[in-house]
Amino acid sequence: MPSIRAAFAVSVVFGAVVALGGCSKKPDASSAPPAAEPAAASQATPPPAPEAPAPAATMISLDIKDASGAAVSGDPVSGKSVFAQCETCHSKDAGTNKVGPSLHGIIGRHSGMIPNFHYSDANKNSGLVWTEQQLYAYLENPQKVVPGTFMTFTGVKDPQKRADVIAYLQENTK
Ligand code: HEC
Repeated sequence: MPSIRAAFAVSVVFGAVVALGGCSKKPDASSAPPAAEPAAASQATPPPAPEAPAPAATMISLDIKDASGAAVSGDPVSGKSVFAQCETCHSKDAGTNKVGPSLHGIIGRHSGMIPNFHYSDANKNSGLVWTEQQLYAYLENPQKVVPGTFMTFTGVKDPQKRADVIAYLQENTK
């Protein structure tokens, strides 16, 4: 009901003017702070629209559920910097092994499949398939998921960082 709102706004402004007028009759009016007028004026205009949220990260949805059953998404851009840790030991390029096997095509790959890489028996015989969900569990604590693994890496404890690096792997190791 705009007419009522306008009437209200006018009455607010009018009230402020009357208040100021009242003040100005006092002998010490010059020392009164002039703050009332702009405040009243701002009530007559609608408040500015709320700021648009910061641009969302480039989240991609993953085939992962967290402990509470909620779907997990990851940001491959942030995942690139997490992958910097992996890169000391792993390449994402096919045929390139370092201390660890190439991670090319890792998502959906059966464990221990790089033919010319010398795996531990623990990793080779784990029977795991590196689904996104399995990587999410493994990368939290590799030694717990594959006891006896040669992968001397404590893991990525932050669940979002784990999701991010998996998003990065999904986009960059196909
Ligand atoms: C300190 C070196 C090192 C780091 C850092 C490291 N890895 Fe590994 N990773 C290895 C080694 C060595 C193996 C082989 C383990 C075995 O044979 O027991 C391995 C194995 C794996 C495997 C199983 C591969 C297969 O073919 O079965 C995956 C998946 C993996 N790493 C992912 C990662 C990811 C993702 C990161 C970073 C978040 C990472 N690793 C960090 C050394 C490392």
